[in-house]
This record gives sequence, structure tokens and C-alpha cells, in this order.
Amino acid sequence: MRVLIKPDYDSCAKWTAEYIIYKIQQFRPTANKPFVIGLPTGSSPLGVYQELINQHHAGKISFQNVVTFNMDEYIGLPPDHPQSYSRFMWDNFFNFIDIKKENVHLLDGMTTDYVSECQRYEDAIKEVGGVNLFLCGIGTDGHIAFNEPASSFASRTRIKLLKPETIIANSRFFGGDTSQVPEKVLTVGIGTIMDAQEIILIASGKNKQEAIRQTIECGINHLCPASILQMHEHAIVICDDCAADKLRPDTIKYFKNIERSKMIKK
Ligand code: GLP
Repeated sequence: MRVLIKPDYDSCAKWTAEYIIYKIQQFRPTANKPFVIGLPTGSSPLGVYQELINQHHAGKISFQNVVTFNMDEYIGLPPDHPQSYSRFMWDNFFNFIDIKKENVHLLDGMTTDYVSECQRYEDAIKEVGGVNLFLCGIGTDGHIAFNEPASSFASRTRIKLLKPETIIANSRFFGGDTSQVPEKVLTVGIGTIMDAQEIILIASGKNKQEAIRQTIECGINHLCPASILQMHEHAIVICDDCAADKLRPDTIKYFKNIERSKMIKK
């Protein structure tokens, strides 16, 4: 696992966006061989999306041959609901880039046949050849997508019931009213994320300190779902100084030295 510690939220966003652009360009995607990226919602990726939009407007990157799969969706919210993850993605990213509508994949929170919907998603990922890069945020308890603590590391896309702490945390997007937050969600599984060729997890701020500490310094444990990234061959955790503040000085030194040696090699 590669760990990058940057001064603040903006530098994490800039680095991540530049890295995504580099990966897309290096891949040389075509209509028949698109670059496939998994995407999260939440406050963590917003800066990345803005930077990608800026770079697109500056003519530096096209998303014509990029295919996206979002991680999760609330059950019971129509796609145009202000708090649906579908709406979030269109309002904050897709509407401002040149992505083809048919290349955007979102889970249908309005389905009543959850099993078929989740299978459709897994099949669609397989059909396009798998995910090249999965971008993830992280919950304060170490959850990725909506795979909360104790989710199986082998899990695939499925329905989940949110725990009260997540409902409380996410109520900030629903005017602080927990009764408005759907209890059920559809989410890709940890196994689905781990199948990606590469994973980037972004985190910033004080409320992510404990999750980052457990992800990086503790053993792999399903009580901190993100800790499974330690087992991925190409996983990057990028966090700001504040989110890294609970890491031991030796840990920080170890990862900073690795990055320093990479710079010297260049
Ligand atoms: C939600 C989402 C996750 C996201 C997490 C953290 O629970 N399902 O995908 O990573 O919140 O969100 P934020 O980035 O706003 O802190």
C-alpha cells in the first residue's frame, strides 16, 4: 500500500486528479477499450471532481472513452432527488465533462428487484473488462462505499441496512434530519472494489484520523473495512496532515521516505 500525506484537502484533490488524468492518458482509451473508473460521492471527492472539470475545460483531458461505475445509492430516492447519489454525480461532475451518458453507470435505488439490479451491476462491470481504477472515500468508522464495519471482505454488490451512526453522519446532507435519510442502500461489495486493478482512497480532516490510523497501522480486520486495502497490490491512500495526525511518527517517516526516494529516482 502506498501512503501519501499532503498538507491539506486541496493538495490531495489536485494530486489525485492529476494521477487520474495520467492513468487515463497512459491507457489511451478508445470506444472499444474504454478506461473504467469507480467513483464515490461525499465531500472527500468533490475537490477531485472540480479539478478534473477544470482540467477538462483547459483541454487537458477528455472523458469520451471513460466508463464510470458509482459505488452506491440510497434505496427509495429517485435519480433526480437532490440527495440521491445519481443527482450528486450529475450536479458535481458529469454535467461538466464530455462523458457519454451511456458510459455512466449508477445503481437504481428505485428498483424493487434488488437482487437482479445488483447482479446487473456486477455483470456490467465484468462485461466492460473490470474496473481500472476505483476511487474511494472513507467513513469515520473505516467504511468504504456503504460497506460498514463487519461487512464481508468477499462481498459483492448488494442491499445493506445502514447503522444508526452512518445515518446520523449522512443526515448533514438532509438538513440534519435523520428521518429523511433512507435506511437501506445498494452498494458495491468490498470484493467488487478489491477486484479493481488499482484503488485510491482519499481522506482529509480530523474526523477521519482514527479510520486512517486503523486502515494503515492496525491489522486487517473487517471491523475497519478499509484495512483490506493493505492486501491490494496497487492501493494508494492519500490523506492530509490532519487526517494523518494519529499515525505514529515512525509510520509517517516510513511512507514519506518512500515518496522521497521516488522523487530522487525521477
Ligand atoms: C458515505 C458514502 C461513502 C463515503 C462516506 C464518507 O457513507 N457512502 O462512499 O466515502 O460517506 O463521506 P465524506 O467523504 O463526505 O466524508
